[in-house]
Amino acid sequence: MISTLLSRTRRGADGDPVPRLAYGADYNPEQWPRDVWEEDVRLMREAGVNIVSVGIFSWARVQPGADQWDFGWLDEVMDLLHEGGIGVDLATATASPPPWLSTAHPEILPVTADGETLWPGARQHWRPTSPVFREHALRLVRAMATRYADHPALVAWHVSNELGCHNVYDYSDDAARAFRDWLRARYTTLDALNHAWGTAFWSQRYGDWEQILPPRLAASHPNPTQQLDFKRFSSHALKEYLRAEREILREITPDVPVTTNFMVMGGTKGMDYADWAEEVDFVANDHYVVPGPQDRDELSFSANLTSGIAGGRPWFLMEHSTSAVNWQPVNLAKRPGELARDALVHVAHGADAVCFFQWRQSAAGAEKYHSAMVPHAGADSDVFRAVTALGATLKTLAPVAGTEREPARVGILYDWQSWWASEQDSHPTSLLDYRQEALDWYSALLALGVRADLVTTRADLGRYRVLIAPVLHVVPADLAKTLTRYAEQGGHLVTTYFSGIVDENDHVWLGGYPGALRELLGIRIEEFGPLPAAETVELDDGTTGALWTDQVTVTDPETQVLARYRTGAQAGRAAVTRRPTGPGSAAYVSTRLGVEGLTSLLPRLLEPAGVTSELPADARGPVELAVRRGPAGRFLFLVNRTDATVPVLGLAGEVLLGARDADGTLTLGPRDVAVLRQPAV
Ligand code: GLA
Ligand code: GLA
Repeated sequence: MISTLLSRTRRGADGDPVPRLAYGADYNPEQWPRDVWEEDVRLMREAGVNIVSVGIFSWARVQPGADQWDFGWLDEVMDLLHEGGIGVDLATATASPPPWLSTAHPEILPVTADGETLWPGARQHWRPTSPVFREHALRLVRAMATRYADHPALVAWHVSNELGCHNVYDYSDDAARAFRDWLRARYTTLDALNHAWGTAFWSQRYGDWEQILPPRLAASHPNPTQQLDFKRFSSHALKEYLRAEREILREITPDVPVTTNFMVMGGTKGMDYADWAEEVDFVANDHYVVPGPQDRDELSFSANLTSGIAGGRPWFLMEHSTSAVNWQPVNLAKRPGELARDALVHVAHGADAVCFFQWRQSAAGAEKYHSAMVPHAGADSDVFRAVTALGATLKTLAPVAGTEREPARVGILYDWQSWWASEQDSHPTSLLDYRQEALDWYSALLALGVRADLVTTRADLGRYRVLIAPVLHVVPADLAKTLTRYAEQGGHLVTTYFSGIVDENDHVWLGGYPGALRELLGIRIEEFGPLPAAETVELDDGTTGALWTDQVTVTDPETQVLARYRTGAQAGRAAVTRRPTGPGSAAYVSTRLGVEGLTSLLPRLLEPAGVTSELPADARGPVELAVRRGPAGRFLFLVNRTDATVPVLGLAGEVLLGARDADGTLTLGPRDVAVLRQPAV
């Protein structure tokens, strides 16, 4: 789908669409005079750009007043791009409402939990559930779709922008009304809601739907199920908004694919993209590196999870940065090689399009210090030269376009319900970090050179020999059954502390933790033992635990103890267990071992499943392997994770990117990426 998007703008000699990787950026020509546009198109061609996203923040420009429209400039931009052979992923332009709208209708402005209005002056100051906002925004969508339906540059629709980036949680009266509607649909009766929310507690019993509010600033901890349902509702409300725009686009341009840019990256938690993926014609994602010890592992993790959300099919990298961002406390420039390496890791994990925010670095506005493809220095710059080199690289990688992820043998289950619920307030610890725990397992697998797929509960879990489910806190009865069946049929399940604790209503499974998985794991826990921030405990296998411990009792004589606590309140008790389940097993890790500890433990968890690295010995750790496959072949992406040169010996295949030495060794320079093509299997 993505690889042939551009076929609307250019065709191969035989008239068939030429599959290729898309390359480009957000393009904001309204920030520049007309003569710059011509230079833009010329430089885009020079850089190998073939797609740009236009109009994302153009509402005030295309509709300067309620009944005033000004499409002339955008017509011209679209024409210029088309003449340059550049396709347009056209935004519906609804991301940031213009001042005339928020002045006439301040009731579209979001409200925080403590009742503060989010005023205009930045962007995305709209309530996802505002009927007034929706009416105006959908009118604009209709106008845009009608205007450009037949424009030859149009290759895809870009709904709004990063839905929920700043406005996922709105506590306004509109939100309250929509929340009640959502709750009615979920529970049908007030009795069912009262039961689910456990309103017998603290005198919270509702006698009328109208009494129900979003979890606004309260005197103490708001009802946890109300909080969890509000998270579910808020994600759903944005999804409904996405559908509303999409329906208009499909009505007017049924043949033009529709997407919106997700934000699978650190710091973003509110949108359940596993639940959104079906709503778009192809998944698109934005990703920014947040500097830190695992920053590039996190990039790979996010790209991998995006692939999981997309069901292993190709997806569209809508934004990342050529160099520094502008929203960190300190904004680091990328080092040489990082621009290409970061982009290619996304391609390794299924991106068929590589786009940046943004094409030309702004001279004014809140993002003027955010890097771009054409920096303030202009085209005579290292950044633009690196951008042009990447354009050429992506051309050589054209055969990869359209290929899918080759499933790994290890899956890591990522679940928004557990993410949201496990990090709520009033818990045994406020230090638990769901995403970090999942990332630590991923980093440990990278350190061992073992390929793993991030997957959601919608995936076919049975295809994985090992399934790691970190902090799988919410386990409804049917998920418990699925996991039990998985292990009994030969799968090797690994789970951790604070997993299997509650059902979908956030009610604790009773009789000893982890209620939903107790029998499967062959253990029983009477009390949690969270650790103070600075405290750690030693395990008898030499690893160190932090954050959490459990008072584990082994209840099944078959359950093996893989490691015991050597120090701390649980000294002598089991810390890591595994219960054989016929051909499979179910393992439990009761503490946070961190990357180092998990790297040391994992071989013992992988061994019974027969899972080892697919990389040559010397490359295990320094090199990340990701595999895409399709009719055109099997593509091995080899990413040098280090700042040193790494030789990779003994891997067969035609070199698509990189170079072999005379003796056939593939040598990866610091931060290099190589791509090998093997015959399709
Ligand atoms: C987001 C937005 C862009 C821009 C970038 C800056 O991804 O979608 O408009 O603000 O962040 O990093
Ligand atoms: C106070 C309250 C109780 C309970 C405890 C919990 O004592 O009176 O209702 O909330 O705190 O520590």
